[in-house]
Amino acid sequence: MPATVIVGAQWGDEGKGKVVDLLAEKSDLVARYQGGNNAGHTIVADSQTYKLHLVPSGILYPGTLCVIGTGTVVDPGALVTEIDGLESRGIVLDGLRLSGSAHLIMPYHVALDGASEMRLGRFSIGTTRRGIGPCYQDKAARIGIRAQDLLDPKILVRKLEIALEMKNEIMERIFGLPRMDAQDIADALAPMAARLAPFIADTSLLVDQALRDDKNVLLEGAQGTMLDVDHGTYPFVTSSNPIAGAACAGIGIGPTRISRVVGVSKAYATRVGEGPFPTELDDADGARMLERGNEFGTTTGRQRRCGWIDLVALRYAARLSGFTELALTKLDVLSGFPRVRICEAYRTRDGEILTEFPYHQTVFHGCTPVYRDLEGWDEDISECRGLKHLPVAARTYVETIAAAVEVPITLIGTGQGRHQVIDTVEI
Ligand code: GDP
Ligand code: IMO
Ligand code: MG
Repeated sequence: MPATVIVGAQWGDEGKGKVVDLLAEKSDLVARYQGGNNAGHTIVADSQTYKLHLVPSGILYPGTLCVIGTGTVVDPGALVTEIDGLESRGIVLDGLRLSGSAHLIMPYHVALDGASEMRLGRFSIGTTRRGIGPCYQDKAARIGIRAQDLLDPKILVRKLEIALEMKNEIMERIFGLPRMDAQDIADALAPMAARLAPFIADTSLLVDQALRDDKNVLLEGAQGTMLDVDHGTYPFVTSSNPIAGAACAGIGIGPTRISRVVGVSKAYATRVGEGPFPTELDDADGARMLERGNEFGTTTGRQRRCGWIDLVALRYAARLSGFTELALTKLDVLSGFPRVRICEAYRTRDGEILTEFPYHQTVFHGCTPVYRDLEGWDEDISECRGLKHLPVAARTYVETIAAAVEVPITLIGTGQGRHQVIDTVEI
């Protein structure tokens, strides 16, 4: 059976964790293909809240294989803490696997992420300061440390020495940071290596075998399309490719193995960190979204910027990943707005109307939204379980989005809980 990719359609935090958790019930294997512990995926199941950063959102189902793929970057300390935290809550981690080729976030990556943000000052990106960018830099520069290096202490220390030869110069001379010692880092890694070794595997082979055995395979993206390093709002992006095409490289399977791509979007929009956001609100409507949607980052606790749904960006996301369906989360948050707004187009500084996402950042930075207003609804929809139970205005809102994006909406979120969802909906 071909694989399904779950991809964020906006600026991250769309509710991917909840959607993956829902689909994971019928899946045999869930694999993360990019990003690191910059991600924060919240799952609310049986009145318990789980905040996952690296472990795939299928872990709550015993027996499901959960793969942290080659395209991810893994902070070993953060992963051990997450594993310990889950185990202490009775979650069985027997099914967890970590790609031996995944790159590891080292203490100098975290130090350099923070220092570089400080240096950028008012041009800073607003990163999560988890060392993500510097780790991907070293991967491309071919001086990275990989999970498999944990299995060979001699190679590990040698590779750390090579990397630190350059890093120490940069840390000391450019950023005024203390130098780090390869042996100290290797010593600190030793207990983590012992803890993680049983999980390290050839995960490309594992996923291939599952697909050959006709198993249900989910490929889980982190972040979102507009944070994609190639196609997002560069430079205000993350350092990897969340788009669906990257799932192949990030796992190690071919594109012919994927048949279904589920884009996940909120019924409105949020962004955390710096960078352009045309539909951002600085008024009572935005404050209401923030409050009702509890829009605070899962990883850093930062307040998320809120705004109306942006269909120009959503259509762009559908194009980049080839969505075969869309999951629209948090529709419940929009109850009680007298009118709801949909950004259908952008107006440029020159007054031109754009319905396609502009490739040039100067044009994009000058864009203001062109809205279509729809009637709001007052009803609490958190207990709605079928499309026919939705207020007419809410249904019209959903139908308008599906028609504009030209992708069927097959899942609607009506609350945080695992079962607060309207599914198998085709509009
Ligand atoms: P992710 O990073 O895409 O997995 O999303 P996050 O977990 O960071 O943020 C989404 C937040 O919205 C989480 O707190 C979810 O529990 C919550 N959530 C997801 N779907 C819904 C929904 O349909 N309604 C409401 N009210 N909350 C939701
Ligand atoms: P999930 O998987 C929302 C943002 C950061 C910053 C930019 C670069 O939970 O959707 P980085 O630390 O990656 O170098 O930061 O990307 N960012 C996210 N925003 N959700 C995420 O993950 C994010 N991961 C990174 O805020 O603007
Ligand atoms: Mg998140």
